[in-house]
Parts: sequence; structure tokens; C-alpha cells
Amino acid sequence: MIVTDSEKRISDICARWRVEGLSVGFVPTMGALHRGHLSLVEIAAASSDRVVVSIFVNPTQFGQGEDLDWYPRTLEEDCSSVESAGASAVFAPRADTVYPDDFSTGVHVTGISEGLCGAARPGHFDGVITVCAVLFGIVKPDLAVFGMKDAQQLAVIRRMVSDLRMGIEIVAAPVVRESDGLAMSSRNQYLSVEEREQACLISAGLEKALSLFRTGERNCEVLQKEFLAALKDAPLLRVQYVETVDPDTMLGVERVDKQVLLAVAVFAGKTRLIDNILIWSEV
Ligand code: PAF
Repeated sequence: MIVTDSEKRISDICARWRVEGLSVGFVPTMGALHRGHLSLVEIAAASSDRVVVSIFVNPTQFGQGEDLDWYPRTLEEDCSSVESAGASAVFAPRADTVYPDDFSTGVHVTGISEGLCGAARPGHFDGVITVCAVLFGIVKPDLAVFGMKDAQQLAVIRRMVSDLRMGIEIVAAPVVRESDGLAMSSRNQYLSVEEREQACLISAGLEKALSLFRTGERNCEVLQKEFLAALKDAPLLRVQYVETVDPDTMLGVERVDKQVLLAVAVFAGKTRLIDNILIWSEV
């Protein structure tokens, strides 16, 4: 597997693959990889001839006082795990490669990026999609895989790729969970033992809301309250938001008449965790 921090090298390699008729799948990450990330690499590998994984802790998507400085950096372990998952190359650029001194462009998607995490973390999605636009421009993938755990990020990226006619297929990968239901996240390692014990109530609460929907409840406020009730005996958890939205537009929904995303952000101590579940049934 190729590991490089050189923009020219990775773009030359990808260009050569394309000339050889090989399709290129792409998985952008910030490293500190867990099984959730590896599932993205496996999905990319199943539908592309070559897979590039980028590892870059993107400073522009962190707000003031967030965890940029102590975000875990584990490049060596990350490289060996993505190689086993089917990656052909890792691109781990330096910050001044991605953002040279004269870098002057920012991408902003209106609407979809402004509620939920966008409201809680102003500027976050501008940083995410700008770095994705830069990385897409370097790798020029045929497809890119993003996790459903970051459902708003996925929706914002889909919108950008469609609006800017980037010609990249965006593939959504299911949320990967620990055995007790906690959604996998690089930030789970910040949790104390007590916070970790209580954090599993987040997914339990989402499941309870889905079960209530399955018994016939269609009122979104009642479903949100069902989620909140599951957290009532968890003093270390603090809900930042619980919202029911259309999964494509991220606009609020009051009744479940079609697929709805129940999306939450919850602090466990100082660690901010997000999770979501699709409320719908085919029957
Ligand atoms: O989901 C992430 O890890 C990041 O937001 C991404 C997409 C790699 C952009 O930095």
C-alpha cells in the first residue's frame, strides 16, 4: 500500500489508475480509525478497483475551544488497518499542503448545513465541505463513501457534489455500533468509565423512539420525548439537541408520513456525541 503526504504523488497515482481503466473509490477521514471507518473502506473496495483513504485532521472544521489540539493522531495503526480493509493508498497531507498560504476559497451549502450540528457548531460544515472539495479535486474519485452516523454531513456533501456537478457517486454506509449500541466514534475514547456506561442510553433511546413509532405513534414530538425519557436517569448526559428532520433537506418534520431522521447530539461529560436513527418501516 502506498502512503504519501504528497499531493502530486497521490494525484499522479490516481490519474494513472484512471488511464489504466481502474475505478477509484475514496474514503476521507481524520484518522483515529475504528471499525466504522474500516467498514467505509470495505464498502469502497467492494465497488471500486482502487481505494484511497485520506487521513487529515482538518483544522477548519473545529470551532474555538473544540478538540483540535488533542484529537487522537494514530497514523501508523491507521495505515495498517486500512490496508487490511482493502485500501490501495493513504494520502496523509500536511496542513500547508491542503491550505497553502494563498488559499482563499470556502464552500458553503445553505439550508441543509444550518440547523442541527450546523447551528451548534457554526462554520463546521463550511470547513468539512471545503476540505472535501479540495480532496475530491486531488483524488478525482469515481465514488466516495461517508457514514450515516454523520447524516447531516452526508446530506451536505451530496448537495455540494450535485450542485457543483462534481460527478462523484456518494455512497452512504450504515452506522457501526459497539455491542451495547453506542455508535462508533473516534471521540468515544475520551469517555470516562461512568460516561461510557451512560452513553449507551443514547442508542437505546433512539431504538425506543423507533419502537414507539412501530406501535403506531406518528407525532414527532412524542417520539422525541420518548428519546429524552430514556436518558432521564443518566446525570452525566446532557442533550444538546433532539430533532426529527427530513434526511435529505434536514428541515424539521412534525409527523412521520415518510422516512424521518431522528437526530441527536448529547454531551457525555465534555465529549459531544451524535447519533441518529431512520424512523420508518416498509410494512
Ligand atoms: O467525517 C470526517 O471524519 C470528516 O468530517 C471528513 C469528512 C473527513 C472531513 O474532514
